[in-house]
Order: sequence, then C-alpha cells, then structure tokens
Amino acid sequence: MIRKARITDVVEIQKMLRDFAAEGLLLARPLSELYTTLRDLVVFEDEEGTVAGCCGLHIIWSDLAEIRSLAVARSCRRRGIGRRLVEACMSEAVCLGISKIFTLTYEVEFFERLGFRLVDKNMFPQKVWADCVHCPKFPNCDESALLLDIA
Ligand SMILES: CC(C)(COP(=O)(O)OP(=O)(O)OC[C@H]1O[C@@H](n2cnc3c(N)ncnc32)[C@H](O)[C@@H]1OP(=O)(O)O)[C@@H](O)C(=O)NCCC(=O)NCCS
Repeated sequence: MIRKARITDVVEIQKMLRDFAAEGLLLARPLSELYTTLRDLVVFEDEEGTVAGCCGLHIIWSDLAEIRSLAVARSCRRRGIGRRLVEACMSEAVCLGISKIFTLTYEVEFFERLGFRLVDKNMFPQKVWADCVHCPKFPNCDESALLLDIA
C-alpha cells in the first residue's frame, strides 16, 4: 500500500535512508528535518505493516519540485514499488499545480523509465542556494540531474 507518511513512520524512514546513505546512494536526513517536512513524504507499507519504501516531493519554487529521499528495501526491489512511490509524488505535484519535477540521483535508468530526461544541474539555481551549499559533496556533486515536465 502506498500512503502518505505518518509521524510514527519517521524513525523507520530515517533508518532506511541512513542505511542507503552509508553506501553513498542518497543523503541521510536528520529527524528534525523529517518531522518538519513530513507532509512531503509518501511510504510503501508491506503486508506486515512495515514501512519498506519512501519518497519525498519537496517544493523548491513556483514551478519546480524535487523528488528526494527515494528508497525501497532490498527485499522489495523490482516489484514496481519505486515507480509507484514516484508516481504518487507526480500526482501530488499535478494537484498542486507544479509543472516540473527534478531529481539528483545515481539511478539514471530508473528515472528515465519513468519519463525523466537528463539535464544540466545548473538549471536549478534555487536548489543550489537552498540545499546544495549545505551538502558535504558541494561543489563536487557527482549525481545526475533529471527532469520531468508534467504540465
Ligand atoms: C532506485 C530504487 C528506488 C528503485 O526501486 P524499485 O522498487 O526496485 O523500482 P521499480 O521496481 O519500481 O522499477 C521501475 C522500473 O525501473 C527499472 N529499474 C529499477 N531499478 C533499476 C536500476 N537500478 N537500474 C535500471 N533500471 C532499474 C525496473 O526494471 C522497472 O522497469 P520497467 O517498469 O520497465 O519494468 C531502489 O533501487 C532503491 O531504493 N535504491 C537505493 C536508494 C537510491 O538509490 N535511491 C535513489 C535516490 S534519488
């Protein structure tokens, strides 16, 4: 089941992100940030009620939102859960009237399968001012930027 995240999911979400962050696949998020941006997040809950996937849609600017903190537990991969999490965020962006979604990622092929296209990172100065300058990798980001037009 894909659903909006609840406050009681946050510790599990943080643990999942931390495990993948330890492998350098995404950025870990402090609990404080996960609580304050809880409304960004959707989760996948398995049959046992365990959170086995998550994804965030974070608004950046008037026409732009970012997909971030996307993770699916290894035991649940390649079953369409990542796709469904991103599609839930895409639907929300449409409801909010946001016309473009981008992501910074190493998972280029996964996002291309969802219709995203590779673009120049310099297209997103608002992201750089707000977030990238605080990232430990700045200014040597080796992730790829991908963009989806949804309007
Ligand atoms: C990337 C990730 C979320 C994909 O989740 P998933 O549930 O396995 O993906 P899905 O099953 O929904 O795959 C959707 C499509 O992408 C393809 N795909 C999935 N992972 C892929 C990969 N690593 N490379 C190439 N294609 C991939 C699938 O085959 C599927 O294609 P299809 O629709 O044509 O059959 C998952 O591998 C993950 O959590 N990775 C670690 C964290 C990470 O890197 N997150 C991204 C940070 S932005």
